[in-house]
Amino acid sequence: MQRIKAKKLTLGIVGGGPKSWIGHVHRISSRFDDQYEIMAGVFSRNAKFSKKFGKSLGISPDRCYSNYKEMADRESKRKDCIKVVAIMTPPSSHQTISEKFIDKNIHIISDKPFAGNLEQAKKLYKKIKSNKKIKYALTHNYSAYPMVREAKKLVEKGKIGKVEYINVEYVQDWSSGKNLTTRNSKKILKWKIDNKIVGASAVLNEIGSHAYHMAIYISGLKAKSIFADIKQISNKIKMDNNAQVMINFNNGAKGMFWTNVMARGGVYGLRIRIFGSKGSLEWIQNDPNYLKFNPSRGAVRLLERGFFNTNFSKNFSRLKFGHPEGYLDAFANIYREFATSLKNKSKKRYFFPNEDEGLETAKFIDACKLSSKKKKWVKI
Ligand SMILES: NC(=O)c1ccc[n+]([C@@H]2O[C@H](COP(=O)([O-])OP(=O)(O)OC[C@H]3O[C@@H](n4cnc5c(N)ncnc54)[C@H](O)[C@@H]3O)[C@@H](O)[C@H]2O)c1
Repeated sequence: MQRIKAKKLTLGIVGGGPKSWIGHVHRISSRFDDQYEIMAGVFSRNAKFSKKFGKSLGISPDRCYSNYKEMADRESKRKDCIKVVAIMTPPSSHQTISEKFIDKNIHIISDKPFAGNLEQAKKLYKKIKSNKKIKYALTHNYSAYPMVREAKKLVEKGKIGKVEYINVEYVQDWSSGKNLTTRNSKKILKWKIDNKIVGASAVLNEIGSHAYHMAIYISGLKAKSIFADIKQISNKIKMDNNAQVMINFNNGAKGMFWTNVMARGGVYGLRIRIFGSKGSLEWIQNDPNYLKFNPSRGAVRLLERGFFNTNFSKNFSRLKFGHPEGYLDAFANIYREFATSLKNKSKKRYFFPNEDEGLETAKFIDACKLSSKKKKWVKI
């Protein structure tokens, strides 16, 4: 486990009000390793609601703000201004909220997707790169599981040879067990049915972005061209709910990608298989402490987090092998590593997802939309 200096980073939060479960995840993850202290926030669009919630978290009333602009302006004038802001609002707001804090030299941890669409993503990317004083982390949290990082290391070390095929899927069920109609869909799906809020595509922005990120993160590759078939719930309910994509990667590897948010009984079905010239790797989120390594010659090896032969995974682990680690531990790895990167001035390699991967994922989603519309292969 990495050791970092004890002084805590002051953290502000935008979004993640009481009904948002990811808000809870961020708040816990930030505290996991005692590296942050939540000092300020705006948790909801409703100012009264937001302030009440902030106070319930123990935040000083003068730092429970009415909106993010007020928060950025007023915090930046304080001597004890927050060092980092964590953003967990719906996708299309990520760009403008991030930019406001970048202008105040406040570091950003943002939830995915990087932005609502490619146009926003390009603007945000430029803005991040234009301010050398700030760092940016994107919570594509699945990439922070110890055995996903181990997989990345094995690929880098050439243990499966040249990557030839990638098969990735992320499947969920947002139906609440109901048949969706124009009447009940708004109540069940909320902003996810509104393109102005969810951005380019509900299924791709919300969970497909994680799946594509996993493919590029572990393999180190990126898509060069794609052919996508995207489906909406119906002609009346125009929310993208399924996307199947064929991918040509930049090293010549081929990929199959599937994401769906209306697959009945599809509960957190994130799975990735990567096949190389010397063997393959398989990781499933529901069993995250294990990674299957199938060498092309020899028996399957089930690798477990934290052992002598999975040493790299120990860097991203807190518990001894045998004790299960999971979602929160992985999420907290992004917070911990980001804190290390801010406190440590050396040019160490960090593994948390950043704006480069965010832009790459936005390009993929944009190309998928275009390909599906034109029914053609599209270059990225
Ligand atoms: N990393 C993950 O695994 C993961 C999981 C779930 C959601 N998410 C992401 O988190 C984000 C939020 O999703 P959610 O499911 O929590 O949504 P949600 O609607 O449940 O919660 C969003 C919260 O943000 C607040 N909010 C919205 N706009 C705001 C603004 N301008 N200022 C302050 N507060 C504002 C809302 O009041 C609400 O409390 C999305 O980008 C989503 O993709 C990530």
